[in-house]
Amino acid sequence: MQLGDRGEFSAQIRDYDTCFVEFLKPSGNGQKILQSILLREAFSLFALQAVVIKQNAPTVILDVSCGPGDYSVTWTSQIARFLPKGIAFYCTDYPEGISRETGETYAMTTAKKMEAAAENGKLRLAQAPVATNADLFFGDDALMPSGKTANIVHWSHSGYHVRDALGAARNDPRAIEAGLHAAVDKIWAVLDEMGLMVSVHETRDNSDGIQSQIAPVSRKYCGKLDDVPERIAARIEQLGGYVAVVNVVSPLKFPGLDDAGWERLKRPAQWDRLNMSAVRALRLLNFIAYDFSDPGKSALETLAEDGRLAPFVNEYKSIVATNGGHIVAKCAFQMISKSQQVAKKLDDIAFQLTEKMRDFSEEMAAEMRRS
Ligand SMILES: C[S@@+](CC[C@H](N)C(=O)[O-])C[C@H]1O[C@@H](n2cnc3c(N)ncnc32)[C@H](O)[C@@H]1O
Repeated sequence: MQLGDRGEFSAQIRDYDTCFVEFLKPSGNGQKILQSILLREAFSLFALQAVVIKQNAPTVILDVSCGPGDYSVTWTSQIARFLPKGIAFYCTDYPEGISRETGETYAMTTAKKMEAAAENGKLRLAQAPVATNADLFFGDDALMPSGKTANIVHWSHSGYHVRDALGAARNDPRAIEAGLHAAVDKIWAVLDEMGLMVSVHETRDNSDGIQSQIAPVSRKYCGKLDDVPERIAARIEQLGGYVAVVNVVSPLKFPGLDDAGWERLKRPAQWDRLNMSAVRALRLLNFIAYDFSDPGKSALETLAEDGRLAPFVNEYKSIVATNGGHIVAKCAFQMISKSQQVAKKLDDIAFQLTEKMRDFSEEMAAEMRRS
């Protein structure tokens, strides 16, 4: 692929949706596949242990910061068979999260994709999906219509975005903490007393000798938060809740780049002469910088202006070369509850899931090859 001019490409990588779509491609990223496998296996254990799932009424699910909806369809389709009375589905995202594909908000796009999935028999909906536009980190926007609570809240990979809306305060630790507390508190407010909140975010945990390879680089250059799970757990404990954790590791692939290709990434003046592999790499690098605070400038353009784009690219290049074509993302899959009774079962389920992680990783790799 040759792009017309550099301006065209700059506009592309300033666009969140374009970079996110690249990141989501299942052939190059195991993260969502593995998350869906874990949710399927967790729900099979919830069914066995009679926990969390509603037996006599639809299970109410809230997907927080749902994004454009394909992943929402994937994971809810995986757990649908364990929900005897079907799903009452609610989703929420930022009002300014707009899907390029539909021109509508992410929340509305997701609600419509869920409806289509139900029509195609992938899952059973007990009512029409409800989309709510809400800022998770600030202000008084509620995540669900007044009076509603959820049996399952799913919150995946949006905690890092607390910094985007902070403007000049984006690196102020107190402002970051206040924004993340607001998010956890909003979710807590709509979580049923016997319900489950699943949170999935990149972790800096290396207790098993494996370290994530995204945040250490993106934190150093762009300030990306690498400790969202720890911050969530600390707030949940303050609120009197319980957290069980499963750590998961998945690859993000950067195929087909030779030395000349990597070099071109470092020079914005050459961005009009990128091939497909380089276009993918640039979108991915911009996405995993996790800095969309300036709509007029991508994270990579900011780094280039500061003379730091070349070392940023070099660090990822070296990791990709060492691993033979990918970088490793390590995430914490946190299962959170308000009730001690539920928490005891979740601890046991987290243990069982961790024990089977090798099988899940093999399934993920096979699915990536098929995609
Ligand atoms: C990496 S995506 C994750 C989407 C989906 N949950 C997933 O795991 O694929 C991050 C999401 O956070 C949303 N987001 C960013 N800022 C937000 C805010 N202030 N309030 C609510 N959601 C926000 C984005 O619109 C986007 O959908």
